[in-house]
Amino acid sequence: MRPALSDYEHLASGKVRELYRIDDKHLLFVASDRISAYDYILDSLIPDKGRILTAMSVFFFDYIDAPNHLAGPPDDPRIPDEVLGRALVVRQLEMVPVECVARGYLTGSGLLDYQRNGKVCGIALPPGLVEASRFDEPLFTPATKAELGEHDENISFSRTIELVGAVRANQLRERTLQIYLQAADHALTKGIIIADTKFEFGVDADDRVVLADEVFTPDSSRYWPADTYQAGVVQPSFDKQFVRNWLTGPESGWDRNGSTPPPPLPDDIVEATRARYIEAYERISGLSFADWIGPSA
Ligand SMILES: Nc1ncnc2c1ncn2[C@@H]1O[C@H](COP(=O)(O)OP(=O)(O)O)[C@@H](O)[C@H]1O
Ligand SMILES: [Mg+2]
Repeated sequence: MRPALSDYEHLASGKVRELYRIDDKHLLFVASDRISAYDYILDSLIPDKGRILTAMSVFFFDYIDAPNHLAGPPDDPRIPDEVLGRALVVRQLEMVPVECVARGYLTGSGLLDYQRNGKVCGIALPPGLVEASRFDEPLFTPATKAELGEHDENISFSRTIELVGAVRANQLRERTLQIYLQAADHALTKGIIIADTKFEFGVDADDRVVLADEVFTPDSSRYWPADTYQAGVVQPSFDKQFVRNWLTGPESGWDRNGSTPPPPLPDDIVEATRARYIEAYERISGLSFADWIGPSA
């Protein structure tokens, strides 16, 4: 018999995940169906999102050549039935206090930095780059984690060295770029550009750097359809395009610049968004989501 979720001590709630203690070395890492847009956690859930994102992370942890925090398979007997498919048993690590971002393309906060001073995280770039320009080589653009509701803050490599030391900073940069290149090459063969992505690393008891958290999910990465890619314009986001269009369109009645949180999403937007997450998973992994374990929402 599997344990119940209530058998485990609840340790923390993130924006999307719940963490429980399994024992002194292991955590139960549970992904919810919560979705964020424009820095708000929406009231609407996307049914199965937690299972889809868990399936994607498992696919990439397996695909990538780097030590990771998984401490058991998706059907590990320590996982309660009620969270099967959305939960993983992971090694509890000392998390590195730097968000490790790899960027293959210029967009988002990187573009804003570039427009201000021609640099991203202190890295000088050639003039004339535009929204969605592809870099010749991907960049390591670390950030420090912001409090809930705030934006992460981009930092320079020298600031990273101050925070974690030179040896660790170099390890993080090397590991981040290697993992990004490996996954981005794979995604591109499936018609998806991973424009950028964020990793969280931890350090284990033997002082080894271990890839933790989630990997290459649409929550931690920008996915763009490769067939419509064009530098100079904002690319459609693979997963949240329907949500963003509806929220900023006339039907929602929501003012993005006001102080009220977004309204709940209509059912068809929820369903279209769910379908996009499944499409991304199936295209990238070549697997069918219908075969993924756990109770469907
Ligand atoms: N192996 C691990 N050991 C300890 N903490 C971890 C591990 N992997 C991820 N975490 C932490 O678990 C949390 C995941 O929850 P999430 O909802 O994604 O949080 P956030 O809102 O910070 O993105 C993050 O704080 C992350 O740093
Ligand atoms: Mg997170």
